[in-house]
Amino acid sequence: MSLKFKNTKRIEGLDSNVWVEFTKLTADPSVVNLGQGFPDIPPPLYVTKELSKATTINSMNQYTRGFGHPSLVKALSCLYGKFYPNQINPNEEILVTVGAYGSLFSAIQALIEEGDEVIIIVPFYDCYEPMVRMAGATPVFIPLRSKPVDGAKGSSSDWTLDPQELATKFNSKTKAIILNNPHNPTGKVYSKEELQVIADLCIKHDTLCISDEVYEWLVYSGNKHLKIATFPGMWERAITIGSAGKTFSVTGWKLGWSIGPSYLIKHLQTVQQNTIYTCATPLQEALAQAFWIDLNRMDDPECYFNSLPEELEVKRDRMVRLLESVGLKPIVPEGGYFIIADVSSLDVDLSEMNNNEPYDYKFVKWMIKHKKLSAIPVSAFCNSEAKLQFEKFVRFCFIKKDSTLDAAEEIIKAWKKQKS
Ligand SMILES: Cc1ncc(COP(=O)(O)O)c(C=O)c1O
Repeated sequence: MSLKFKNTKRIEGLDSNVWVEFTKLTADPSVVNLGQGFPDIPPPLYVTKELSKATTINSMNQYTRGFGHPSLVKALSCLYGKFYPNQINPNEEILVTVGAYGSLFSAIQALIEEGDEVIIIVPFYDCYEPMVRMAGATPVFIPLRSKPVDGAKGSSSDWTLDPQELATKFNSKTKAIILNNPHNPTGKVYSKEELQVIADLCIKHDTLCISDEVYEWLVYSGNKHLKIATFPGMWERAITIGSAGKTFSVTGWKLGWSIGPSYLIKHLQTVQQNTIYTCATPLQEALAQAFWIDLNRMDDPECYFNSLPEELEVKRDRMVRLLESVGLKPIVPEGGYFIIADVSSLDVDLSEMNNNEPYDYKFVKWMIKHKKLSAIPVSAFCNSEAKLQFEKFVRFCFIKKDSTLDAAEEIIKAWKKQKS
């Protein structure tokens, strides 16, 4: 083959992808899919109605402002203005992107330079590492470490960063830290004290913080999501990322946003104007209208930002009981819509599986084949050195309708019966 057909150096070694691999494996409709993080519950009716409405207006079917449809950036600035001590300029401090992925990509392309170091907390949403590598920078990893819990239920709050260890990762080359709060896959919701440690180090070392907060509304009883960008000295150095897919259960809409000071956002805008240029107009208009509806009833239980976590907490608790019923010790998530559990105690015979793969890859592939139940291996969220530390864990998604959870329950109960 001609050498000219060879891939560029910047994508070398980045060809495998957990979503591509596992989406293929779950294409069989008889597989109960608790893998990829998409809801099979319908989005709120007013959201889809707003989309139908938007498509009937001709101008909404044409290109709109590249950095974000005017009504959407206005709605976002009003919404987030409620949480930040400062007003948010809709035109200069917000960029609407193709999903949170688009925000991560434009932030990393715009602000991370060849030779920079970027701190990534392990486990991490899988695209962080390849995006940093594509920018020519070096990822510097730090794992969340779990405290042993005697008898008590495991919680995502047991998974913490060691402040001293974190401090050792910062140096003069450190350009940014990528934070994910609430965290995928553990469901950890960082406490005020934990965020303060990160903020202090960012300020001390003049480091940016890219804060992926796509699950910002999905926080369960007793927990509160705090935005690191609202900590003193952090607005100046933070890009905060959100997602319509996660906010309104419309992952197929692929709309996201970045919020930050104009002198940072303008660089993200430069990337966007020269790559994808603009996002779909009718989707942005519908999203803006949906935000206005919920913005005007933020304290009501019907507001989707309140009703969805309430609905999901019931599903989370059901998943906890289900996993416990087969002898697993799930890590109860404080937020997000995933639950992880160490599956090694199930003692499944994986000898027929490909030995070159981590334990959790083999386990999930075995479970899809023999039990028709899918999940996602947690080592997919790890750098190669950390895979061993996390390979006994599997992630289950619980933003699923009751009938899907019923089907998962049936599989797990039959599995338990077989074992006993
Ligand atoms: C932590 C995290 N960040 C970003 C994304 C991507 O979001 P979007 O679909 O809006 O691009 C996801 C999707 O699952 C996620 O879990």
